[in-house]
Amino acid sequence: MQNKHGRVRAALAQREQERGPNDIVQALRHWTLAKGDDGIAWLTLDRADESTNTLSEEVIAELDTILSKVEGLNPRGLVIRSAKKGGFVAGADIRDFRNVTNADEIVERMTRAHGVIDRLDRLKMPTVAVIHGHCLGGGLELALACDHRIATPDAKLGFPEVMLGLHPGLGGTFRLPALIDPIQAMTMMLTGKSAHAQRARTLGLVDAVVEERHVTAAVQSAIDGELERGGRDWKHGVFAFAPARKLAAGRMRKEAARQAPPEHYPAPQRLIGLWESYGGNAELMQKAEIRSFSDLLAGQTAQNLIRVFFLREKLKAFGKGASGIKHVHVIGAGEMGREIAMWCAAQGLVVTIADLDRKALARAVGEARKFYGRKLHSGIERRDALDRLVPDFSGEGAARADLVIEAIAEKAEVKKKVFAEIAPRMKPDALLATNTSSIPLETLREDLPRPERLVGIHFFNPVTRMELVEIVSHDQASDDTLARSRAFCGAIDRLPAPVKSAPGFLVNRALTPYLAEAFLMIEEGIAKETIDKAATSFGMPMGPVELADRVGLDIALEVAESLKAAFPEEVPDVPGWLREKVERKELGRKTGKGLYDYDDEGKPKKSEAPSPDPRMADRLVLPMLNACVRMLRDGIVVDADTLDGAMIFGTGFAPFRGGPIHYAHQRGIEDVVTTLNGLEKAHGGRFRPDDGWRSLSAT
Ligand code: NAI
Repeated sequence: MQNKHGRVRAALAQREQERGPNDIVQALRHWTLAKGDDGIAWLTLDRADESTNTLSEEVIAELDTILSKVEGLNPRGLVIRSAKKGGFVAGADIRDFRNVTNADEIVERMTRAHGVIDRLDRLKMPTVAVIHGHCLGGGLELALACDHRIATPDAKLGFPEVMLGLHPGLGGTFRLPALIDPIQAMTMMLTGKSAHAQRARTLGLVDAVVEERHVTAAVQSAIDGELERGGRDWKHGVFAFAPARKLAAGRMRKEAARQAPPEHYPAPQRLIGLWESYGGNAELMQKAEIRSFSDLLAGQTAQNLIRVFFLREKLKAFGKGASGIKHVHVIGAGEMGREIAMWCAAQGLVVTIADLDRKALARAVGEARKFYGRKLHSGIERRDALDRLVPDFSGEGAARADLVIEAIAEKAEVKKKVFAEIAPRMKPDALLATNTSSIPLETLREDLPRPERLVGIHFFNPVTRMELVEIVSHDQASDDTLARSRAFCGAIDRLPAPVKSAPGFLVNRALTPYLAEAFLMIEEGIAKETIDKAATSFGMPMGPVELADRVGLDIALEVAESLKAAFPEEVPDVPGWLREKVERKELGRKTGKGLYDYDDEGKPKKSEAPSPDPRMADRLVLPMLNACVRMLRDGIVVDADTLDGAMIFGTGFAPFRGGPIHYAHQRGIEDVVTTLNGLEKAHGGRFRPDDGWRSLSAT
């Protein structure tokens, strides 16, 4: 008991957090209750064997036990606090949500958990949640069941459930709108956006924001009833009337549907429905929340989005370990090089960037300044990031760097020439990386003095938004090189996916049949808008026509032609008009004209077009799946989950479908193969189902 208590104290002491009293009343595995001479009890959560506090079933069950103790003790007031450095509570333990499919069982579990939170809510003495760091999802629901919330300035409060295809399920849907302006409450839950301490104070979500050293005093005044509570205003009165809710709900529905199609993402519409029907009536709302949350959790969308959460964890795990990389030298300050450079500098690395063209360097710094202005919070952070990004006119940086990344023209002989000049000047243990999209690494390593240090670090465009980075190996790459490259990705907050060197690597190889099929459909006279709609209705973030324009038709053409040469049976012929467009420099969004025309804001001008035939999505998506299965069979990627994760984080492949291979399993391998057979008959051999489907149907 003392041990556990000692650990909690030590953790709090490190941050010089308010410690509360020393006299332990009860210490369980995760919770500790102590009471001071002033009659105030402190209940501290320090989840055993985890670095972050989350609410697992066990944590909630223990809370129930310890609340009995609190009731017996009847202190003057109760404080709830976290002993973890990172924050209060990060949310429910998502592991508990995985693979649950029986909604009635979830109703039972959630009803039990609600009973515990209600018990906290009903305590007779004043209760205060002291919040530092993250206070999300179930954590915020715990805090909402207290009478007061006191936050330190670093606190961040929110309901991110919608990202997992859910809405709050532990009382948030009725406790939040009861506390703050109901429209603001709904917005928080519908967008998943969190509020920092000061904003939370303005909203009335917390009663006070105080520095750590004032926490005890603030707790005292809260318990003595001297702290003014934020919250309720006239809007509660208005929205007690059903017609007012109905009107507001209509607007919310429209906005939510604009953000995410309701047929794929039902949670926001469910949440709006709950509030519209029962807003203001906590009892009815609680029952309805439990039912609705349980149905959503057992549904396919939430389960697939939970799967995506774990796919991210899986890719993140590839990036663990030390990279030994502090200084990156980027060669080429074009579209990709400048983004790679500014991203790395923002993440704390020293970056030198070289280009033959001085103007390109000036532009790189200019764009970085703009990006940091938008994305970094403080002036100091912006200045430091810009200080770390050094335009290198002499190319000297290459000799000092731990990693050199090449992002120059996509020509093997040009890249090899640059390598020949740079490799002898590099530090002996420095890594040499290429951002090539299509040149085999085996070609690029040919004349290198240390071929084992070469690696493909293939970023996606735009680097700042696409989380995936393919780490491309080759026959002579050393394990150390690959491990350090993966760790480098981890260190700059990107997700590494290890892949073998093969034409198109993983993501471009899968995307090309999809893009090329769209080109062919345009050739057949189908409207671009109809083609794009077929893909977005399937759940793609943008259609193939718009995507080709976004990537650049020159690049799309180059990749399509090189893949057509490597896999003639997989990729359709590229139409002649596409080549002509590229020759005319109609390259897509970057030139204001491509397959679509673009307005000044870079938005495509689309016309009204017929709705797509329901089978059109299959014609686009199934060749992509077929290529994925072939790559699994060829061992380009280690397993199906890595492939699914790479496609989601590299292309935005419909997240609610859980990835291409997972989608094929859920749809039924047989059905996919039969459909491919039908497409083969109608359109040709490129749809022939790959042999890999057979082994997949066995898993
Ligand atoms: P880009 O044409 O925008 O930029 C290339 C830059 O390299 C230019 O500023 C040019 O002046 C400079 N450069 C050329 N030769 C040089 C040399 N010998 N020394 C120093 N600088 C030199 O090209 P982009 O689009 O940035 O592509 C670069 C590489 O990244 C290519 O290998 C491409 O395949 C790859 N890539 C491109 C993606 C894209 O979406 N654009 C996505 C992923 C990879």
